[in-house]
Amino acid sequence: MKVKDEVLKKLEENKGDFFSGASLANDLKVSRNAIWKAVNSLKNEGYNISSVTNKGYCLSNDSDIISKQSISKYIATKAPLDIQVFQTVTSTNTVLKEMAAKGAAEGTVVIATNQTNGRGRLGRSFHSPADTGIYFSILLRPKMSAENSLFLTTSAAVAIAKAIEDVKDCRADIKWVNDIYINNKKVCGILTEGSFNVENNELDYAIVGIGINILPPKDDFPEDIKNKAGAIFSQGEDVSEVSSKLVAHVLNYFFDYYNNLTSKSFFEEYKSRSFLLGKDIHILDGNGKIPATAIDLDESCHLIVRLEDGTTKELSSGEVSVIMD
Ligand code: BTN
Repeated sequence: MKVKDEVLKKLEENKGDFFSGASLANDLKVSRNAIWKAVNSLKNEGYNISSVTNKGYCLSNDSDIISKQSISKYIATKAPLDIQVFQTVTSTNTVLKEMAAKGAAEGTVVIATNQTNGRGRLGRSFHSPADTGIYFSILLRPKMSAENSLFLTTSAAVAIAKAIEDVKDCRADIKWVNDIYINNKKVCGILTEGSFNVENNELDYAIVGIGINILPPKDDFPEDIKNKAGAIFSQGEDVSEVSSKLVAHVLNYFFDYYNNLTSKSFFEEYKSRSFLLGKDIHILDGNGKIPATAIDLDESCHLIVRLEDGTTKELSSGEVSVIMD
Protein backbone atom coordinates (compact mmCIF):
# COMPACT_ATOMS: atom_id res chain seq x y z
CA MET A 1 0.00 0.00 0.00
CA LYS A 2 1.17 3.56 -0.73
CA VAL A 3 2.19 5.69 2.26
CA LYS A 4 -0.74 8.03 1.57
CA ASP A 5 -3.19 5.12 1.68
CA GLU A 6 -1.70 3.83 4.92
CA VAL A 7 -1.86 7.27 6.54
CA LEU A 8 -5.49 7.66 5.46
CA LYS A 9 -6.32 4.20 6.83
CA LYS A 10 -4.86 5.09 10.23
CA LEU A 11 -6.61 8.49 10.34
CA GLU A 12 -9.97 7.12 9.10
CA GLU A 13 -9.89 4.35 11.70
CA ASN A 14 -9.21 6.91 14.43
CA LYS A 15 -11.13 10.00 13.35
CA GLY A 16 -10.76 12.86 15.84
CA ASP A 17 -7.52 11.45 17.34
CA PHE A 18 -4.08 13.03 16.89
CA PHE A 19 -1.02 11.10 15.71
CA SER A 20 2.43 12.65 15.70
CA GLY A 21 4.45 12.58 12.49
CA ALA A 22 7.09 10.59 14.37
CA SER A 23 4.64 7.88 15.52
CA LEU A 24 3.12 7.55 12.07
CA ALA A 25 6.60 7.36 10.52
CA ASN A 26 7.56 4.72 13.05
CA ASP A 27 4.38 2.66 12.52
CA LEU A 28 4.64 2.76 8.75
CA LYS A 29 8.45 2.44 8.69
CA VAL A 30 8.95 5.50 6.51
CA SER A 31 10.52 8.94 7.05
CA ARG A 32 8.68 11.83 8.72
CA ASN A 33 9.09 13.69 5.45
CA ALA A 34 7.15 10.94 3.65
CA ILE A 35 4.35 11.32 6.23
CA TRP A 36 4.33 15.10 5.79
CA LYS A 37 4.07 14.68 2.01
CA ALA A 38 1.27 12.12 2.32
CA VAL A 39 -0.71 14.39 4.66
CA ASN A 40 -0.30 17.35 2.29
CA SER A 41 -1.44 15.28 -0.63
CA LEU A 42 -4.54 14.15 1.32
CA LYS A 43 -5.27 17.77 2.29
CA ASN A 44 -5.07 18.71 -1.40
CA GLU A 45 -7.64 16.01 -2.14
CA GLY A 46 -9.99 17.77 0.29
CA TYR A 47 -9.44 15.82 3.51
CA ASN A 48 -9.96 17.99 6.59
CA ILE A 49 -6.75 17.12 8.45
CA SER A 50 -5.52 19.45 11.21
CA SER A 51 -1.78 19.73 11.84
CA VAL A 52 -1.08 20.97 15.36
CA THR A 53 2.40 21.55 16.80
CA ASN A 54 3.29 19.01 19.50
CA LYS A 55 0.12 17.00 18.77
CA GLY A 56 0.44 15.93 15.15
CA TYR A 57 -2.22 15.15 12.58
CA CYS A 58 -5.94 14.50 13.04
CA LEU A 59 -8.73 13.77 10.57
CA SER A 60 -11.79 15.81 11.53
CA ASN A 61 -14.83 13.88 12.77
CA ASP A 62 -16.98 15.59 10.16
CA SER A 63 -14.72 14.55 7.27
CA ASP A 64 -16.96 12.59 4.90
CA ILE A 65 -15.08 11.60 1.79
CA ILE A 66 -15.87 8.07 0.72
CA SER A 67 -12.75 6.01 0.12
CA LYS A 68 -11.55 2.45 0.30
CA GLN A 69 -10.31 3.26 3.80
CA SER A 70 -13.57 4.84 5.00
CA ILE A 71 -15.46 1.73 3.85
CA SER A 72 -12.92 -0.87 4.97
CA LYS A 73 -13.23 0.08 8.63
CA TYR A 74 -16.83 -1.24 8.56
CA ILE A 75 -16.08 -4.40 6.58
CA ALA A 76 -16.63 -7.59 8.57
CA THR A 77 -16.89 -10.18 5.79
CA LYS A 78 -13.87 -12.36 5.19
CA ALA A 79 -14.64 -12.46 1.46
CA PRO A 80 -11.66 -11.13 -0.50
CA LEU A 81 -12.58 -7.64 -1.74
CA ASP A 82 -10.88 -5.19 -4.06
CA ILE A 83 -12.69 -1.90 -3.40
CA GLN A 84 -12.18 0.83 -5.99
CA VAL A 85 -13.73 4.26 -5.46
CA PHE A 86 -14.28 6.80 -8.23
CA GLN A 87 -15.96 10.17 -8.19
CA THR A 88 -17.68 10.10 -11.58
CA VAL A 89 -18.07 7.20 -13.98
CA THR A 90 -20.47 6.46 -16.83
CA SER A 91 -21.95 3.48 -15.03
CA THR A 92 -20.30 1.35 -12.36
CA ASN A 93 -21.76 -1.75 -14.08
CA THR A 94 -20.20 -0.74 -17.40
CA VAL A 95 -16.80 -0.01 -15.82
CA LEU A 96 -16.84 -3.31 -13.93
CA LYS A 97 -17.88 -5.25 -17.05
CA GLU A 98 -14.74 -3.96 -18.76
CA MET A 99 -12.66 -5.02 -15.77
CA ALA A 100 -14.36 -8.44 -15.71
CA ALA A 101 -13.57 -8.98 -19.38
CA LYS A 102 -9.91 -8.30 -18.56
CA GLY A 103 -9.96 -10.91 -15.79
CA ALA A 104 -10.76 -8.92 -12.62
CA ALA A 105 -11.35 -11.17 -9.63
CA GLU A 106 -14.55 -11.98 -7.80
CA GLY A 107 -15.01 -9.40 -5.05
CA THR A 108 -13.92 -6.44 -7.15
CA VAL A 109 -16.24 -3.60 -6.20
CA VAL A 110 -16.53 -0.38 -8.21
CA ILE A 111 -18.09 2.55 -6.36
CA ALA A 112 -18.98 6.04 -7.57
CA THR A 113 -20.69 9.09 -6.13
CA ASN A 114 -21.96 10.13 -9.56
CA GLN A 115 -22.86 8.32 -12.79
CA THR A 116 -23.31 10.07 -16.11
CA ASN A 117 -25.04 7.10 -17.70
CA GLY A 118 -26.54 5.11 -14.84
CA ARG A 119 -28.51 2.18 -16.21
CA GLY A 120 -31.66 0.50 -14.90
CA ARG A 121 -33.56 -2.64 -15.83
CA LEU A 122 -35.37 -3.09 -19.13
CA GLY A 123 -33.12 -0.55 -20.87
CA ARG A 124 -34.20 2.32 -18.62
CA SER A 125 -31.79 4.89 -17.24
CA PHE A 126 -31.11 5.28 -13.53
CA HIS A 127 -30.98 8.85 -12.24
CA SER A 128 -27.58 9.08 -10.50
CA PRO A 129 -26.87 12.68 -9.45
CA ALA A 130 -23.63 13.65 -7.69
CA ASP A 131 -23.26 13.46 -3.93
CA THR A 132 -26.81 12.49 -2.97
CA GLY A 133 -26.65 8.79 -3.75
CA ILE A 134 -24.19 5.92 -3.82
CA TYR A 135 -23.76 3.72 -6.87
CA PHE A 136 -21.78 0.51 -6.78
CA SER A 137 -21.28 -2.81 -8.53
CA ILE A 138 -19.99 -6.13 -7.24
CA LEU A 139 -18.22 -8.63 -9.47
CA LEU A 140 -19.03 -12.30 -8.88
CA ARG A 141 -17.82 -15.45 -10.59
CA PRO A 142 -20.32 -18.00 -9.31
CA LYS A 143 -20.58 -21.58 -10.47
CA MET A 144 -24.24 -21.17 -11.27
CA SER A 145 -26.80 -21.73 -14.00
CA ALA A 146 -28.76 -18.94 -15.69
CA GLU A 147 -31.97 -19.76 -13.79
CA ASN A 148 -30.36 -19.46 -10.38
CA SER A 149 -28.86 -16.06 -11.10
CA LEU A 150 -32.11 -14.48 -9.86
CA PHE A 151 -30.93 -15.38 -6.34
CA LEU A 152 -28.06 -12.92 -6.71
CA THR A 153 -30.57 -10.09 -7.10
CA THR A 154 -32.97 -11.30 -4.43
CA SER A 155 -30.27 -11.96 -1.82
CA ALA A 156 -28.76 -8.55 -2.61
CA ALA A 157 -32.19 -6.97 -2.04
CA VAL A 158 -32.34 -8.44 1.46
CA ALA A 159 -28.74 -7.36 2.17
CA ILE A 160 -29.57 -3.79 1.10
CA ALA A 161 -32.80 -3.63 3.13
CA LYS A 162 -30.93 -4.74 6.24
CA ALA A 163 -28.03 -2.32 5.59
CA ILE A 164 -30.47 0.57 5.18
CA GLU A 165 -32.11 -0.27 8.51
CA ASP A 166 -28.63 -0.22 10.12
CA VAL A 167 -28.14 3.43 9.17
CA LYS A 168 -31.69 4.72 9.55
CA ASP A 169 -34.53 3.90 11.92
CA CYS A 170 -37.03 2.78 9.28
CA ARG A 171 -38.63 -0.23 7.64
CA ALA A 172 -37.17 -1.15 4.23
CA ASP A 173 -39.49 -3.22 2.05
CA ILE A 174 -38.83 -5.09 -1.17
CA LYS A 175 -40.91 -4.69 -4.29
CA TRP A 176 -40.48 -7.88 -6.27
CA VAL A 177 -38.09 -8.33 -7.76
CA ASN A 178 -35.36 -5.76 -7.36
CA ASP A 179 -36.53 -2.51 -5.78
CA ILE A 180 -36.23 -1.32 -2.20
CA TYR A 181 -38.97 0.91 -0.87
CA ILE A 182 -39.35 3.07 2.23
CA ASN A 183 -42.77 4.58 2.93
CA ASN A 184 -44.02 3.61 -0.54
CA LYS A 185 -41.12 5.34 -2.32
CA LYS A 186 -38.38 3.59 -4.26
CA VAL A 187 -35.01 4.38 -2.66
CA CYS A 188 -32.88 1.76 -4.38
CA GLY A 189 -32.73 -0.32 -7.54
CA ILE A 190 -30.62 -3.33 -8.47
CA LEU A 191 -29.40 -4.22 -11.95
CA THR A 192 -27.82 -7.66 -12.24
CA GLU A 193 -26.03 -8.37 -15.49
CA GLY A 194 -24.07 -11.41 -16.51
CA SER A 195 -22.00 -13.10 -19.15
CA PHE A 196 -22.83 -16.70 -19.93
CA ASN A 197 -20.67 -19.47 -21.17
CA VAL A 198 -22.78 -21.12 -23.87
CA GLU A 199 -20.79 -24.36 -23.63
CA ASN A 200 -22.02 -25.20 -20.12
CA ASN A 201 -24.82 -22.65 -19.65
CA GLU A 202 -22.99 -21.35 -16.57
CA LEU A 203 -22.16 -17.79 -15.70
CA ASP A 204 -18.69 -16.55 -16.61
CA TYR A 205 -19.36 -13.65 -14.32
CA ALA A 206 -22.22 -11.67 -12.85
CA ILE A 207 -22.32 -8.04 -11.83
CA VAL A 208 -24.75 -6.89 -9.18
CA GLY A 209 -25.21 -3.12 -9.57
CA ILE A 210 -26.84 -1.17 -6.75
CA GLY A 211 -28.00 2.44 -6.74
CA ILE A 212 -29.19 3.94 -3.43
CA ASN A 213 -30.72 7.40 -3.00
CA ILE A 214 -29.36 8.68 0.30
CA LEU A 215 -30.77 12.21 0.05
CA PRO A 216 -33.22 13.69 -2.45
CA PRO A 217 -31.31 15.26 -5.38
CA LYS A 218 -30.55 18.97 -4.85
CA ASP A 219 -32.83 19.91 -7.76
CA ASP A 220 -35.39 17.17 -6.98
CA PHE A 221 -36.08 13.96 -8.91
CA PRO A 222 -36.90 14.30 -12.61
CA GLU A 223 -40.59 14.74 -13.46
CA ASP A 224 -41.07 11.18 -14.77
CA ILE A 225 -40.00 9.51 -11.50
CA LYS A 226 -40.98 12.23 -9.01
CA ASN A 227 -44.06 10.37 -7.78
CA LYS A 228 -42.37 7.10 -7.04
CA ALA A 229 -38.73 7.94 -6.18
CA GLY A 230 -37.59 8.69 -2.65
CA ALA A 231 -34.48 8.80 -0.49
CA ILE A 232 -33.48 7.25 2.82
CA PHE A 233 -32.90 10.62 4.49
CA SER A 234 -34.53 14.04 4.17
CA GLN A 235 -32.74 17.22 3.19
CA GLY A 236 -30.75 18.63 6.13
CA GLU A 237 -30.34 15.34 8.02
CA ASP A 238 -26.80 14.36 9.01
CA VAL A 239 -25.59 11.73 6.57
CA SER A 240 -21.91 11.71 7.45
CA GLU A 241 -20.36 8.25 7.10
CA VAL A 242 -23.66 6.90 5.73
CA SER A 243 -22.33 6.05 2.25
CA SER A 244 -19.33 4.19 3.64
CA LYS A 245 -21.41 2.30 6.20
CA LEU A 246 -24.08 1.41 3.65
CA VAL A 247 -21.63 -0.03 1.15
CA ALA A 248 -19.77 -2.00 3.82
CA HIS A 249 -22.91 -3.37 5.47
CA VAL A 250 -24.39 -4.38 2.09
CA LEU A 251 -21.14 -6.25 1.30
CA ASN A 252 -21.11 -7.89 4.75
CA TYR A 253 -24.69 -9.17 4.50
CA PHE A 254 -24.50 -9.99 0.81
CA PHE A 255 -21.37 -12.14 0.99
CA ASP A 256 -22.83 -14.04 3.95
CA TYR A 257 -25.75 -15.05 1.73
CA TYR A 258 -23.66 -15.49 -1.40
CA ASN A 259 -21.18 -17.87 0.24
CA ASN A 260 -24.07 -20.18 1.04
CA LEU A 261 -26.52 -19.30 -1.71
CA THR A 262 -27.92 -22.80 -2.19
CA SER A 263 -29.25 -22.80 1.39
CA LYS A 264 -31.43 -19.79 0.39
CA SER A 265 -31.10 -18.45 3.91
CA PHE A 266 -32.24 -15.04 2.64
CA PHE A 267 -35.55 -16.32 1.29
CA GLU A 268 -37.84 -16.04 4.36
CA GLU A 269 -36.53 -12.49 4.93
CA TYR A 270 -37.11 -11.65 1.25
CA LYS A 271 -40.66 -12.92 1.46
CA SER A 272 -41.46 -11.14 4.72
CA ARG A 273 -40.30 -7.84 3.23
CA SER A 274 -42.18 -8.34 -0.07
CA PHE A 275 -44.96 -5.81 0.11
CA LEU A 276 -46.75 -6.86 -3.10
CA LEU A 277 -48.05 -10.04 -1.48
CA GLY A 278 -51.80 -9.88 -0.98
CA LYS A 279 -52.11 -6.76 -3.11
CA ASP A 280 -54.00 -6.15 -6.33
CA ILE A 281 -51.54 -5.40 -9.09
CA HIS A 282 -51.27 -4.94 -12.82
CA ILE A 283 -48.94 -7.14 -14.84
CA LEU A 284 -47.39 -5.22 -17.70
CA ASP A 285 -46.45 -7.31 -20.68
CA GLY A 286 -46.54 -7.06 -24.46
CA ASN A 287 -50.33 -7.38 -24.31
CA GLY A 288 -50.83 -4.36 -22.01
CA LYS A 289 -51.99 -4.24 -18.40
CA ILE A 290 -53.39 -7.43 -16.92
CA PRO A 291 -55.11 -7.11 -13.53
CA ALA A 292 -54.13 -9.74 -10.96
CA THR A 293 -53.55 -10.36 -7.26
CA ALA A 294 -50.05 -11.19 -5.98
CA ILE A 295 -50.61 -14.23 -3.78
CA ASP A 296 -47.24 -15.83 -3.06
CA LEU A 297 -43.56 -16.18 -3.80
CA ASP A 298 -42.14 -19.63 -4.44
CA GLU A 299 -38.66 -20.74 -3.42
CA SER A 300 -37.35 -19.81 -6.87
CA CYS A 301 -38.39 -16.22 -6.05
CA HIS A 302 -41.06 -16.39 -8.74
CA LEU A 303 -44.16 -14.32 -8.03
CA ILE A 304 -47.40 -16.32 -8.01
CA VAL A 305 -50.38 -14.27 -9.12
CA ARG A 306 -54.09 -14.99 -9.43
CA LEU A 307 -55.68 -13.68 -12.61
CA GLU A 308 -59.26 -12.41 -12.79
CA ASP A 309 -60.49 -15.71 -14.26
CA GLY A 310 -59.25 -17.50 -11.14
CA THR A 311 -56.26 -19.19 -12.75
CA THR A 312 -52.79 -18.76 -11.27
CA LYS A 313 -49.61 -17.81 -13.06
CA GLU A 314 -45.95 -17.88 -12.04
CA LEU A 315 -43.89 -14.84 -13.01
CA SER A 316 -40.10 -14.86 -13.21
CA SER A 317 -38.14 -11.64 -13.42
CA GLY A 318 -37.49 -10.09 -16.80
CA GLU A 319 -40.68 -11.17 -18.50
CA VAL A 320 -42.94 -8.60 -16.86
CA SER A 321 -43.04 -5.48 -14.75
CA VAL A 322 -45.50 -5.12 -11.96
CA ILE A 323 -47.10 -1.89 -10.85
CA MET A 324 -49.31 -1.35 -7.86
CA ASP A 325 -52.87 -0.14 -8.22
C1 BTN B 1 -33.50 -0.31 -11.69
O1 BTN B 1 -34.06 0.31 -10.79
O2 BTN B 1 -34.05 -0.56 -12.77
C2 BTN B 1 -32.09 -0.75 -11.46
C3 BTN B 1 -31.15 0.40 -11.16
C4 BTN B 1 -29.74 -0.02 -10.92
C5 BTN B 1 -28.81 1.16 -10.75
C6 BTN B 1 -27.42 0.76 -10.37
S1 BTN B 1 -26.46 2.15 -9.91
C7 BTN B 1 -25.02 1.19 -9.93
C8 BTN B 1 -25.12 0.28 -11.12
N1 BTN B 1 -24.64 0.97 -12.31
C9 BTN B 1 -25.62 1.18 -13.18
O3 BTN B 1 -25.48 1.76 -14.28
N2 BTN B 1 -26.77 0.68 -12.74
C10 BTN B 1 -26.60 0.06 -11.44
